[in-house]
Order: sequence, then structure tokens, then C-alpha cells
Amino acid sequence: MRVIIVKSYEDIGKEAAKIVKDLIIKKPNAVLGLATGSTPISLYKELIRIHKEEGLDFSKVITFNLDEYYGLSGGHPQSYRYFMDENLFNGINIKKENTHVPDGTIPIDKIEEYCKKYEEMIKQAGGIDLQILGIGGDGHIAFNEPGSSIYSRTRLVALDEQTIKDNSRFFEKIEDVPRFALTMGVGTILEAKEIILLANGIKKAEVVAKAIEGPITSQITASALQLHPKVTAILDEEAASKLKRKKYYKFAHQAEEKINLRIF
Ligand code: PGA
Repeated sequence: MRVIIVKSYEDIGKEAAKIVKDLIIKKPNAVLGLATGSTPISLYKELIRIHKEEGLDFSKVITFNLDEYYGLSGGHPQSYRYFMDENLFNGINIKKENTHVPDGTIPIDKIEEYCKKYEEMIKQAGGIDLQILGIGGDGHIAFNEPGSSIYSRTRLVALDEQTIKDNSRFFEKIEDVPRFALTMGVGTILEAKEIILLANGIKKAEVVAKAIEGPITSQITASALQLHPKVTAILDEEAASKLKRKKYYKFAHQAEEKINLRIF
């Protein structure tokens, strides 16, 4: 895994946006896997800026979001569809029909078929070229809570208490947080051609160290990223503060500027 440590939350967005921009310039019809939550907002802000000021063209870009709360429709202000429209899609020239967020209103008896179809759509689009990920306080990627298999696919899951507590900050009261979600699986995510893992803040430091340097375990589903050949973790100094190899990562990043070295 390549690890880039930057000074600030804004710099995480800038660093990640460079990778997204280079991909879209190389492949205008790139397929992006997108995440919600507080972490990717600085990236989305920077992408909107690059679109507006530098004319980066999203007209052929296709996106698939990782997850959606089960029971919320796209019009609900806490739904991930709403989040994506507000924080990215409305600010760039992407075609809405090219954006996919799992539908949280699918009737329970249609979920299995719907999840299969979601995976099928990703395949038909040619697979995900670049997947953006945050990491949950419990080490989850997407809503793959501790215990999710490395081979898991898109499915309905129950959210863990910690996730419900973490996400209650966006809701009026904790009882309003949905208890279930549709999520891509760890196996689905690992099929992306390239992955960027973003994390900021001291609250993520412990879990980031476990994910990057700890054993691969379904108890920290982000640790499965160690199995993927092309992952870049972009962290601020706080989120990186519990990494044991921090100095080497920093050095690698500096060296890379000069000789384009990928060590980890
Ligand atoms: P956050 O969530 O970006 O709001 O911290 C990350 C996640 O749960 O994946």
C-alpha cells in the first residue's frame, strides 16, 4: 500500500483530486466508485473547483456509490443519494443517469435481485477504475461492519451500534438513524482497479494503523485492502499518528516525487 501523509484535511482532498483528475484526463469515461461521509467532502469540493476553474469534463464519467441507508428515499436529506447530489453531482457536469447510488427503497423481497443487478451494472460499465473509500471508526469500508467476509458482495446489512452512534451526528436523534443499509461487499470493492483510502483526524488514528499495518482480519474490514495491488492511503498527520512506519512512508512519498517510486 502506498501511504501519503499530508498536513491538513484540505490537502487530503487536493492530493486525492489529482489522482481522480489524471484518471479522467486519461480516460474520459472512467468509472468511479464513490463514498459518502465527512471524509470525502474536501475531495468533492476540490473536484468541483477543478471542473469550474480548469474545465475538467465529467460528461462521460460513470459513478457507483458504495452504499445507502435502507429505508431512506433519495429525497431524504440524510440519504446518500441526496448527499452526492448536494456535495458533488450538482457542482459538476456529470449526467445524472450516469450516477448510481443503491436504492434504499427496494422492497425487502426484491433486495437480492436488486443487489445482483447493481453488481451486474458495475461489470457492464467495465468495472470500477478508481474507488474512493473512507474508513469507519470500527474499521469498516462502505458498510462492511466487523465480521464481513472478504468475499462479501453487495447486500443488505445491519449497522453496528458504533456506526449508528457515529452517524447519529447527522440526524436529529439517534433513533432516527436507519438500522440497515445496502452496501457493496468487501469482495466487490477489491475488484476495483485502483483504490484510494482517505482518513483524517485523531479519532481515526488507531483504526488506520490497524487497517494498514495490522493483521488482515474481518474484524477490521479495511485491512482487506492490504490484499489489493494498487491502494493509496491519503492521511493527515493526526490520522497517520499511530502508524509505526510513518517516517518511511513520509520518505517514500518524498522520494516518489523524484523517481516515481512505489514502495508499499
Ligand atoms: P466519515 O465516515 O467520513 O463520516 O468519518 C467514514 C465511514 O464511515 O466510512
